[in-house]
Amino acid sequence: MKQQLLNTLKPFGQEHLLTFWDDLTAAEQKTLAGQIESIDFGRIAGLYSRRNEPAESLSVAGCANDPPGYKFSTVTDPSPVRMPKPITAAEAVQAGENALQNGKAACCLVAGGQGTRLGFPHPKGMFPIGPLSKATLFQFHFEKVKALSQRYHYSVPYCIMTSPATHRETVDFLRNPPDGAKPYFGLAEEDVFIFCQGTMPAVSLENGKVLLESKGSIALSPDGHGGMLAAMAKGTAESPSVLATLRQRGIEYLFYNQVDNPLVRIGSPEFLGYHLLSGSELTSQVIRKKNPAERVGNIIEASGKLYVIEYSDLPESVAKQTLADGSLKIWAGSIAVHVFSIHLLERSAKNADLLPFHIAKKKVPFIETATGHLIKPDKENAIKFERFMFDLLPLAVNAAVVEVDAANHYAPLKNAPGNADSPETVRRDISAMHRSWLNRAGAVTAADAVAEISPLFADSPEMLAGKIQKGETFGTAVLLR
Ligand code: UTP
Repeated sequence: MKQQLLNTLKPFGQEHLLTFWDDLTAAEQKTLAGQIESIDFGRIAGLYSRRNEPAESLSVAGCANDPPGYKFSTVTDPSPVRMPKPITAAEAVQAGENALQNGKAACCLVAGGQGTRLGFPHPKGMFPIGPLSKATLFQFHFEKVKALSQRYHYSVPYCIMTSPATHRETVDFLRNPPDGAKPYFGLAEEDVFIFCQGTMPAVSLENGKVLLESKGSIALSPDGHGGMLAAMAKGTAESPSVLATLRQRGIEYLFYNQVDNPLVRIGSPEFLGYHLLSGSELTSQVIRKKNPAERVGNIIEASGKLYVIEYSDLPESVAKQTLADGSLKIWAGSIAVHVFSIHLLERSAKNADLLPFHIAKKKVPFIETATGHLIKPDKENAIKFERFMFDLLPLAVNAAVVEVDAANHYAPLKNAPGNADSPETVRRDISAMHRSWLNRAGAVTAADAVAEISPLFADSPEMLAGKIQKGETFGTAVLLR
């Protein structure tokens, strides 16, 4: 077997992966051989050799325009959005409601990331984020999908993407959630589709050699949230792909969100309605940038296509441009909440090389083959390759954005306590949003009351309004479940 593996590795200068082969147990050899066989070393060599080539989006950064889009009804900022055709919020809600009443939408949660910045020793979805209940991120998301199913009277399929880094623990957690909660927080098992994304090896920044994380295994990491496209389309002889299953169930639209944002309005009819009425295949939520240099992915339009351009790649002169009313021209910061038309995913999945790989320079611990020692680098030593779902934007017909306000839609859990986008800031934002829903419904709360409303009690201010008496008074901690 060793010789066969050497034959695979030699043309690409990767024979060092077998340095410790003879010291490995039979089981370790089997694991390493499996990893080597699953890697496309030709692709890795090509990606490494093109590592300094600019991404397609960079080539259009100089001529970036504001993207076509719509304003969500909760947005109060009056700055203009370039609407491709006039659609009112009421029309959008009506169109979205019709599609939901006809059972046309499913939801997808990407939860394969390693969550390194948060430093939590479990999948991020297991993080207890509820300000009062300590409900996990997973619970918030699952209860929103359950509420959606109840409101529209159909079993909304819920697709959960994991990675080898998060799969086992996520499956165990969802089957047996804590505190006596029902499996899958009350969703039926046959409506939950858990699928695992692929991996890519980390390579040395210096010479493109694939890194070993131990003597018998390669340093592999999830292949980015864009790995969803291939993973959803992958079926086996025994079971059809998730994408094929959605199609069989008559699904035409997929709400997508990331695990770290508990404010997301999963299944918003208004958001879906803009997607439908604008004839878009991919519609993305954005928040308005407060200043030109804000550290967000910018959604821009160039030559009739939409792209995401990282803040670091946007020329300062372009970032500072303004529209006639003085507002920023490049105003749309992506928050990674999308609606995909299923046919866009089906069409795109046919081409395995459609989504480009982005490179990220990272510190990756590795085994030094000369000594067998584990090296923990103090500066970036490796390249990781990742794909992103937003790279479907330029390929989608009539792609559009919908401006939403962060207060009602976006509070990402990214960092450890003491930083921005950390447990304290996310809990504060959940509480502020729910307090504002209560006040809007006519309830009286202390200005600093901590509020938390389970999605099963009410998952929108409109729904809450039907359950609260005007003038109803609450104390300093309000938990509605
Ligand atoms: P981030 O880019 O914030 O990464 O992921 P992360 O893994 O959560 O955190 P860091 O960067 O290691 O600190 C955004 C979303 O995309 C998912 C994450 O689970 C999160 O929902 N994701 C990311 C995947 O599903 N797969 C990936 O390969 C990467």
